[in-house]
Amino acid sequence: RAPEPATLVIFGVTGDLSRRKLLPAVFGLWQDGLLGSAFNIVGVGRQPMTDQEFRDYALEALKTSKETDAIQEGSLEKFRDLLYYEYGDFDTDEVYDRVGTRLDEAEEAHGGRKNAVFYLSTPPSLFQPISAGLGRLGLQNETEGWRRLIIEKPFGRDLESARALNDAIHSDWDEEQIYRIDHYLGKETVQNLMAIRFGNAIFEPLWNRSYVDHVQITAAEDLGLEGRAGYYEEAGIIRDMLQNHLMQLFTLVAMEPPVASDANAIRDEKVKVLRAVKPIPAEHVSESAVRGQYGAGTLYGERVPGYREEPNVKAESSTPTYVAVKLEVDNWRWQGVPFFIRTGKRLPKKVTEIAVVFKRPPLGLFPGGLERNVLAFRIQPDEGVSLKFSSKTPGQENALREVTMDFRYDAFGAGLESPYSRLVLDAMLGDATLFPREDEVDHAWQIVSGLLEAWDGKPAPEFPNYNSGTWGPEAADQLMGPDRRWRRL
Ligand code: BG6
Repeated sequence: RAPEPATLVIFGVTGDLSRRKLLPAVFGLWQDGLLGSAFNIVGVGRQPMTDQEFRDYALEALKTSKETDAIQEGSLEKFRDLLYYEYGDFDTDEVYDRVGTRLDEAEEAHGGRKNAVFYLSTPPSLFQPISAGLGRLGLQNETEGWRRLIIEKPFGRDLESARALNDAIHSDWDEEQIYRIDHYLGKETVQNLMAIRFGNAIFEPLWNRSYVDHVQITAAEDLGLEGRAGYYEEAGIIRDMLQNHLMQLFTLVAMEPPVASDANAIRDEKVKVLRAVKPIPAEHVSESAVRGQYGAGTLYGERVPGYREEPNVKAESSTPTYVAVKLEVDNWRWQGVPFFIRTGKRLPKKVTEIAVVFKRPPLGLFPGGLERNVLAFRIQPDEGVSLKFSSKTPGQENALREVTMDFRYDAFGAGLESPYSRLVLDAMLGDATLFPREDEVDHAWQIVSGLLEAWDGKPAPEFPNYNSGTWGPEAADQLMGPDRRWRRL
């Protein structure tokens, strides 16, 4: 799996994401020999820097990021020589012109190939200006090679703006050239959802309304705002996590088996299941969803401030930092099986899990029985899969107790790759499987738009309604009804 010679052009290269995740991931790929023999990076930013200064900057980023793999002797110095920098105003043509020149130079160095990936690791307001700027100079078209565009999230801020952004980008770029990032899809454990479902014969027969009682998807974070008030006050948890990462996890659990393993066959099925989700109209949101915002509290024994006390957050902010939602899927497989999805900041710990909770046995023959079996995918941390079932306890009685069968990724004896290295490599190889297609993004926005309509900017007198270090507002428990409970994680 080595890509053809290519140039990676990173817009917003001095930003946080690029420094902490992207550059380390690309360096790791290169150091492992996965980027082929001829490769280089052109960083693009708004601040003036020479190539030399940029090289120092990038090396410093690699040395300080926790994501950087073990650095082999001499490799930083060699990597350094692959780096170039351009800067300018993204609204004028100059900077794109100079990027074009760099690509021409790389063409000579790469033996006549003209392949390039443009990675927009910038604030979302720049996605459109940059894709248009590249388009004005014709950098998106190259008959002797390929040109691709990677776009970071968030992709739009609601259905309408996402559609407008898609239209604007499509005026220069074909859908096949566009790679929208959702880094959850790059996680090894997320890719394993399809592998486990469709690579085994024993799970799929049970994967439906006859056997499944409900599904729970949790993405809990212990972190709070981390100084991102400017972004988060505008986004909130629905745009930041639910519309993208959580919807992607949902599709992978709920989709039908694809007819083939290519990108479009898989994405067709993801779209189909998103289409089957019953819309939640704004006026009925309170029956199917709960919003929350964290107040002050205690995490790992330390006092932490509430959301409204974070720097640059409005004193009366109605931005949600927690959401729980019940989705219903109107198709043959899932009719009547609720999917409960929750995600929030400042919860007791960082944990992402998908639990398929099966129906109870029809008859209790043993004392202590009638528990529901659970197949749990631990996405992170402590990555693995476990199956909970009842077993006879040793002794004279026929009593049952729940036990767990467990698979842990440690069993493979290798660490898990960073999602960014997988995604960058896939984009360089032209494999779009792990990138949400236009219609996927559109349908995911449709699903959350009732929530946005009901809550966006509306006063939230109940906020803050959960303390930092707790599992979110109590109302989220009621969402499950009397006979179901969120898993204790
Ligand atoms: C990002 C969100 O997309 O995902 C962050 O913007 C969030 O707010 C992060 O913290 C979570 O990702 P991960 O990989 O740490 O679970």
